[in-house]
Amino acid sequence: MPAIAKDKDKDIEKRVDSLREKIRHHEYLYYVLDRPEISDLQFDKLMQQLKDLEAEHPELITPDSPTQRVGGKPREGFVKVPHSSPVLSLDNTYNEEELRAWERRVHELSGLSQIDYVCELKLDGMSLALMYEDGKLFRGITRGDGSVGEDVTLNVRTVRSVPLSIPPEKLKKAGIPPDFEVRGELLMPLAAFKKMNEERESKGLSLFANPRNATAGTVRQLESRVTAERRLDYFAYALLTDGRTFFDRHSKTLDALDAASFKVNQSRKLVHSIDEAWEFIQQWEGKRDSLPYEIDGIVIKVDRTALQEELGFTGKAPRWAIAYKYAARAGITKLEDIRVQVGRTGKLTPVAMLAPVSIGGTTVRNATLHNMDEIERLGVKIGDWVQVERGGDVIPKIAKVVDDKDHPRPRELWEFIMPDKCPVCGTKVVRTEGEVDYRCVNANCPAKLRETILHFASRGVMNIDGMGDALVTQLTEKGLVENVADIYSLTKKDLLGLERFADKSAQNIIDEIENSKKLPLERVIYGLGIRFVGERTAQFLAEHFGSMEALEKASVEELQNVNEVGPRIAESIAEFFSNPANRKLVERLRDAGLTMRGQKKQRGIKLAGKTFVLTGTLAHFSRDEAKKLIEDAGGKVTGSVSKKTDYVVAGADAGSKLDKARELGISVIDEKQMQELMG
Ligand code: IVH
Repeated sequence: MPAIAKDKDKDIEKRVDSLREKIRHHEYLYYVLDRPEISDLQFDKLMQQLKDLEAEHPELITPDSPTQRVGGKPREGFVKVPHSSPVLSLDNTYNEEELRAWERRVHELSGLSQIDYVCELKLDGMSLALMYEDGKLFRGITRGDGSVGEDVTLNVRTVRSVPLSIPPEKLKKAGIPPDFEVRGELLMPLAAFKKMNEERESKGLSLFANPRNATAGTVRQLESRVTAERRLDYFAYALLTDGRTFFDRHSKTLDALDAASFKVNQSRKLVHSIDEAWEFIQQWEGKRDSLPYEIDGIVIKVDRTALQEELGFTGKAPRWAIAYKYAARAGITKLEDIRVQVGRTGKLTPVAMLAPVSIGGTTVRNATLHNMDEIERLGVKIGDWVQVERGGDVIPKIAKVVDDKDHPRPRELWEFIMPDKCPVCGTKVVRTEGEVDYRCVNANCPAKLRETILHFASRGVMNIDGMGDALVTQLTEKGLVENVADIYSLTKKDLLGLERFADKSAQNIIDEIENSKKLPLERVIYGLGIRFVGERTAQFLAEHFGSMEALEKASVEELQNVNEVGPRIAESIAEFFSNPANRKLVERLRDAGLTMRGQKKQRGIKLAGKTFVLTGTLAHFSRDEAKKLIEDAGGKVTGSVSKKTDYVVAGADAGSKLDKARELGISVIDEKQMQELMG
């Protein structure tokens, strides 16, 4: 290679390195310290620069590059890997007495009169081990059965608060050797949990019961892109080398992890007596609702490692640590009735009507029963005593039927039967083969209408502030709004005729409605309430088609060319637009002046008219990424080799498609040649 070219390569390498370092620093400020110093836009720009450079020089991509957090191709399953030493669980205590009994035992066993402890929040997620070699993350392992876990590295890489690599100087300064293991808790913050469930609801998918289940479900996703979207968080609480605790005090471990740029929970405290620990426990019991994630208690750990080792463990739990579990925010009350609610998609949800009960300071009057399967699983009948549980931000739910001496099961009980007619419009209810849910199939059901309008006006959609429950109920009951387009025909006079509206408040709503017209195309698409079309799908549709008109005209096949759109979603969209009433609705929204055009993603022309087939494992891209690159350059990717195929891009272990290509005399290229074609 000529010397000049070599120098140029070095320059590019340097730029890539410096960009990565900058991005890592800003990620740390944002995701670990929660103290960003640059705007999101500035951050995105840095990331884009790095992405561009890496696209030009794919040989420079490393697994620890910040661009690799996006997640990639689906996998078949997870590989089981052994832990360096057992991942322990904790024994629980539930009151002060049990806690003090634990402390007495620690004193007896050690013969010491004074012991330091560290108090930490007991985060309600799942434990996860991270292995680093040379300061680089190379493996993430779930707890599994404690001795063998599952390798979830690709998914873990998408968690922004997990450092992918730590510079040697930083580790050195923190006093941590280059090869080490971190253990900690992976969790889903409440806001992300809420958003995810809302999105699932809008797609008619089943909901996760709590953030812990959602975390477990997310980290075990076969497609890491899904994990990347769900915004998990990770708090570190242990540091091991060769399976053993590294520092001589737990408090030092936490400080060192902190210094090495791991996220360590700041609500920790080194205390010198169990009295102080008890104080910490009581303080947090009152404050736990103010946290952005769920905790289910406090963990008390002996600070000195030597003493920890002396105390050892019993079965699966250490003697040197104990969990103090807060009482589940639960109460016992009577199930007075079960009513059925009809959602936007027509789904019938049984809702428990309860005798009012105070749980963790909130009066609870109803709880979700999800579906018929759940009612059967609980074996609950109307008239039963039930235990109701409430999570931080989660809708209250029935945990179980209670039958004890204080709450004996009543003799008179009524079985709940799912109505065969919609409780709102009287249309026959349908349960599709293989689905848990019952649905009202009447497109004009007033309950659906109400929910559809509420969805349309909600913050994440058309953001019409003030158009909530009370207003929408009045508008639909009075017949002022019969579909989402009617919102744009509302006048101030209409609103003044409603309860609780004065000149100013009516004008505010009119202004809000007017403002919503400026929102981008993807919001309008999302707002239409097409089944299975959530926020993200709407975004992809807007980017792909660039206008409502093009989307309306798209065939099922064309729709399937859109990112993440499979046959089920494509059919649902095509069916929606095949209905003349829906087309009319869109027409009216267009006339009202809503945004009907978007930024069609600029497609290149380099590969225009060329059809590609991908086969084997590519070294630098996942299939999805390669597909996207080809499409962005104007080409098309299909699944099987035929005479129409122009190129087969073959990676490692390519199989029958490669044979077929050779048979048909089609050009077989590698990924480097593919990139060359794209220029
Ligand atoms: S220490 C030997 N610290 O609680 C030490 N665990 O019920 C074992 N957990 O499996 C873990 N927050 O997933 C520790 N600050 C914390 C924790 C914590 C949550 C979880 C962890 C563990 C479970 C035991």
